[in-house]
Amino acid sequence: MVHKDLSITFMGVKFPNPFCLSSSPVGNCYDMCAKAYESGWGGVVFKTIGPKHYVIDEVSPRFDALTKENEPFVGFKNMEQIAEHPLEENLADIRKLKKNYPNNVLIASIMGSNEEDWEELARLVTEAGADMIELNFSCPQMTSHAMGSDVGSNPELCRKYCQAVRRVTKLPFMAKMTPNITDMCEPAIASIEGGANGVSAINTIKSIINLDLNKKVGLPIINGKSSISGYSGKAVKPVALRFIQQMRTNPKLKNAEIAGIGGIETWEDAAEFILLGCKTLQITTAIMQYGYRIVEDLCNGLEHYMESQHVDHLEDLVGQATKNNIPAEALDRDYVVYPEIDLDKCVGCGRCVISCYDGAHQAMEWDEEKRQPRCNHDKCVGCLLCGLVCPVGAINLGERVLKKGRKPRNLSRIVLQDVVEKI
Ligand SMILES: Cc1cc2nc3c(=O)[nH]c(=O)nc-3n(C[C@H](O)[C@H](O)[C@H](O)COP(=O)(O)O)c2cc1C
Repeated sequence: MVHKDLSITFMGVKFPNPFCLSSSPVGNCYDMCAKAYESGWGGVVFKTIGPKHYVIDEVSPRFDALTKENEPFVGFKNMEQIAEHPLEENLADIRKLKKNYPNNVLIASIMGSNEEDWEELARLVTEAGADMIELNFSCPQMTSHAMGSDVGSNPELCRKYCQAVRRVTKLPFMAKMTPNITDMCEPAIASIEGGANGVSAINTIKSIINLDLNKKVGLPIINGKSSISGYSGKAVKPVALRFIQQMRTNPKLKNAEIAGIGGIETWEDAAEFILLGCKTLQITTAIMQYGYRIVEDLCNGLEHYMESQHVDHLEDLVGQATKNNIPAEALDRDYVVYPEIDLDKCVGCGRCVISCYDGAHQAMEWDEEKRQPRCNHDKCVGCLLCGLVCPVGAINLGERVLKKGRKPRNLSRIVLQDVVEKI
């Protein structure tokens, strides 16, 4: 059994491990959060609490899933807003959680519609004993345009509401960003300038994921109609990682701490967010599918990964990959790497040939007699699509050759190797 130090200090608060429930139905009440703590989660972000005057009126049904082949949830769509429970009940739950689990981290998520709301909610959750606060600037399906992602895509509102919260609390707080924007750095910088200690990213992506072809309406159908709403789960991970990389490399955000969210299911997903600079990780969709128990595999897998990397403290992995993602114009374009076909592994299915012919450069040829592929280097551009479609991993990195007329550069800065190793 491998034991490594998964604890991490995030915005001045020590977490036993980086794994937290993200704000959503998975942390909706005292019993759920208590069970999550008992299951080993490092922290909980309680379901977003709104102002008393904002009445939550949810639709039914409210979820849908994007599927592919045998995968039940490639992506997940929800139409839910913020906490349905009354404000007082939520505050009582926070008080009770802090009383009974004083050593576990509790993050209160709040959302107002004006400065007074934000001040009032920040004051109330501070008094209730939360360890830190998350400002929800990012729910994409609020029925009020003064709330949610309409706020998060307006840097000046983010700044103003962070300033309001900072006026009434000394607690560390982070601003939860919306991905429904081109440049997340702008609201993130405004939030930090307004007094936030960090940011969390991402909330859900505005989406329509399926249509009922007979009724001619998006899913889920609510009395004959549907609407655009938030997409989460495995499919959104690449979008989350992209925004995190961009924020991590923005000089104005170099002191901002980041909580990574979006499609984390496995310890490998978790490691990717950490390597790109996140200190804590938040999860919803994977818990909705598999339950709180996934935290055991997440912790265990991360500890084994740390062992393989000869790292004793999780902190030492944070941001290790950031510097290796560079602008497209800085990439080395002097080489071509040809595919190497392992004919002992090849099952002769011909998928590499079909993909190369119909989707690439017609370099993969088919030997009818032997029922084997072979690569014609005169046509091959080294895109390695063949390796990605091979179902048995028989096509790997092969010979690397300098393009005609190019001089070799310093090989130590070639990142191509890392890209192709992913195949
Ligand atoms: C059903 C559902 C309800 C959600 N409610 C909230 C919420 O109240 N506040 C919030 O900040 N984010 C909310 N989210 C967004 C999640 O916290 C998270 O940012 C998003 O789902 C991406 O993470 P995931 O891919 O692990 O689910 C909700 C997500 C889902 C699926």
